Amino acid sequence: MKRIILLSLVLLLTFGGVQAQAKKTNKAPKSTESVDGRTTGTTLKIIEDIPLPEPQMGLDTPLQIALKHRQTIRDLREEELPVEMLSSLLWSTYGFNRLEEGKRVVPSAVNCQEYDIYVFTRQGVYLYDAKKHALSKVVEGDNRAIISNQKFFSIAPVSIVLVANYDRMKMFKETADRDFYAATDGGYISQNIYLFCASAELGTVACGGINRESIHKLLGIKNGRAMLAHPVGMK
Ligand SMILES: Cc1cc2nc3c(=O)[nH]c(=O)nc-3n(C[C@H](O)[C@H](O)[C@H](O)COP(=O)(O)O)c2cc1C
Repeated sequence: MKRIILLSLVLLLTFGGVQAQAKKTNKAPKSTESVDGRTTGTTLKIIEDIPLPEPQMGLDTPLQIALKHRQTIRDLREEELPVEMLSSLLWSTYGFNRLEEGKRVVPSAVNCQEYDIYVFTRQGVYLYDAKKHALSKVVEGDNRAIISNQKFFSIAPVSIVLVANYDRMKMFKETADRDFYAATDGGYISQNIYLFCASAELGTVACGGINRESIHKLLGIKNGRAMLAHPVGMK
């Protein structure tokens, strides 16, 4: 009898534990907790999610022609980008090209995918959610001018700010290693922006001369670094 009671107790505890675990893992994350199914690097709450149209894959510029035209263009027009173009630009910047494997258009050291991509426009600041291919608004209003004192940031309709999220780089024990890999990974993203712009006849400039403190404050970045910013516009 004692044995039966003991066995029932063990079963109850084990089964109960499994159920509790399942509850834990099935718990849907709140939208403020995750973007791309991962923790965001910002302490800001998501105001609203705005889906993007499917990225168009129809740009028929051969790679070598895009490379031939790749250049820095600082003379950008104010004109808004069509949303279809913004959609393709963001997919080319940091989208998933193998969603089923969780892999992207850019490589990253030990696949840590540490970047958060912020999009500054006249209407607000958005975090790019590549898994949903959507924009999550995190700040209302026009904050383009705080990115940098370089004047093209106030003119370009869109600026992409690349933020390395150090929460996803804990595997690098040395700060020098973390910084090296964050900078290297950012270079691939930046070059994708340049190549997309070259093939879509848009202008852009990679900028390291940015107001990091102001950006971190605005975006609630506690453990990361705004590495580069790219204003993008018609030329
Ligand atoms: C990491 C990096 C940081 C840069 N920062 C700035 C910047 O803050 N402002 C700027 O006007 N250009 C900046 N540039 C653009 C370079 O000045 C430009 O790439 C260089 O003059 C070569 O011109 P090209 O891109 O047309 O070949 C930067 C480029 C890189 C790669």
